[in-house]
This record gives sequence, C-alpha cells and structure tokens, in this order.
Amino acid sequence: MRIDVLTVLPHLFDCFLGEGIIGRAIQSKKVEVNVVNIRDFALDKHKVVDDVPYGGGPGMVLKPEPIFRAYEELTKEGVKPYVILTEPWGETFNQGMALELSKKERLLIICGRYEGVDERVKKLVDKEVSIGDYVLSGGELPAMVIMDAVIRLLPGVLGNEESLKADSFMDRGLLGYPNYTRPAEFRGMRVPEVLLSGHHKRIELWRKEQSLRKTLERKPEVIEKLKKENLLTKEELKLLEKVEKELRGGKES
Ligand code: ADE
Repeated sequence: MRIDVLTVLPHLFDCFLGEGIIGRAIQSKKVEVNVVNIRDFALDKHKVVDDVPYGGGPGMVLKPEPIFRAYEELTKEGVKPYVILTEPWGETFNQGMALELSKKERLLIICGRYEGVDERVKKLVDKEVSIGDYVLSGGELPAMVIMDAVIRLLPGVLGNEESLKADSFMDRGLLGYPNYTRPAEFRGMRVPEVLLSGHHKRIELWRKEQSLRKTLERKPEVIEKLKKENLLTKEELKLLEKVEKELRGGKES
C-alpha cells in the first residue's frame, strides 16, 4: 500500500512515521508513506495556502488550487488513489472502515486545517472522515489515527501474537477480555486463578465470558444485534445467560 498525505504541517508526522510498529512497517516496505507539504504547491511567491472566506466570517479557508495541484502531481502516472478528507462532520471512523481502507492499493489523505477547506476540493474526495464528535485544530491527528489503524491491519505488519489479539477484539464487535502479566500478585491484587492454571479450554471459556460481560455492560446494543442475527454460538449463548443472570442478581441485591 502507498499512502500520500497532504498537509500544511508535515513535521507533525515525523515521530509518528519513525517509531514503533508504523516505523517498522515503513522500514520493511509493508507500506510507503509520502507526506506532502501543500505549501510547496502554492503558486505565489509567499506560498499562501489559505484565504478569508467569501461572505465573511471568522478564520481562514484552505485554498483549492494548491491542493488540486498537489493531487495532480501525485496522480500524474494515472493511478487514482482513494481520497479521504478529514472533517469533524464526516463519517465516523471505526474498525470496519479501517478494514475497508486497508484493502486499497493507494490512499490519499487530505488534512483539513483552519476553519475549513474550500468546498470545491470535495470534487477530489471519495470519503469525508471524522474520528469523533469533537473539534480538533487540524486534520493531522485524525490522519495519523486513520493511518495507524489501517497500517497495523496490513499483511505482515503485526507479529503473530499481536494479530491474534486484534482478531479477538475485532470478532463481531465484541470487546476484548482483560489481560494480566507478572507478578501474579501485585499490591494485594491477584491475577484470576484460572489464568495461572495452564488449562487452555478453561482459559478460553473464561476469556469468552469476560468479553461477553464487558460487551453487555458497555455496549448492550452489540449483544442485541448478535442475538437477533444468530451470530452467537451455543456455548456463547450459555455463557451470556450466566452473565445476564449474575448481572440481574447484582442489581437486585
Ligand atoms: N478536524 C477537526 N476535528 C476533526 C475530527 N474530529 N475528525 C476529523 N477531522 C477533524
């Protein structure tokens, strides 16, 4: 996969792209990331990329021309990328969207900035994406969030162990089970005995139960949907019944 990013603050990406899982994915050529300064495509001598909004009002708007020129330069070989614009009112990013995006050959992320982007830029855009219902000062953090979630899904980027973990989290929207590491007792808090038992089947059942419990408590709508669509196994339904009974009992007492 190749990802191009159009931004007015390219250095914000330096640490993100140089460290950790993302840094290794780039070094081992699982993904190529190209951060482009929109300012390099401004035509005037002061390299101006924004201007006041027509009709008045506060703030500055990113001009269309530098963005169109950057896009044309990046696509001059004829390969059309899937184009994302980060916007607080776009479609909300989630794991499903990350999975879809991870299948694309090429992505281009345009980082919104200031009060907005000239509406005509949207002619280039396939999807406007928000990372949540809050307003950030620019689209650079959203672009990093999107890239992180997408790159870790690319083949060969995560080790075996980590990818299994990701699978369990992504499993039908169920939330992950709690994890512990050594020591077995820390400041009076003990790791659940079952995890120390070495009994794989019991551990698997315990984890499934914990995952169902957490999902039922925090995202009951996910459990409802899985029940309605018959997406839970017999074993899971039995565990769920036990958890539901315990939770009801807890409430009554
Ligand atoms: N730009 C500003 N806020 C944003 C958000 N929450 N998501 C995506 N882009 C943004």
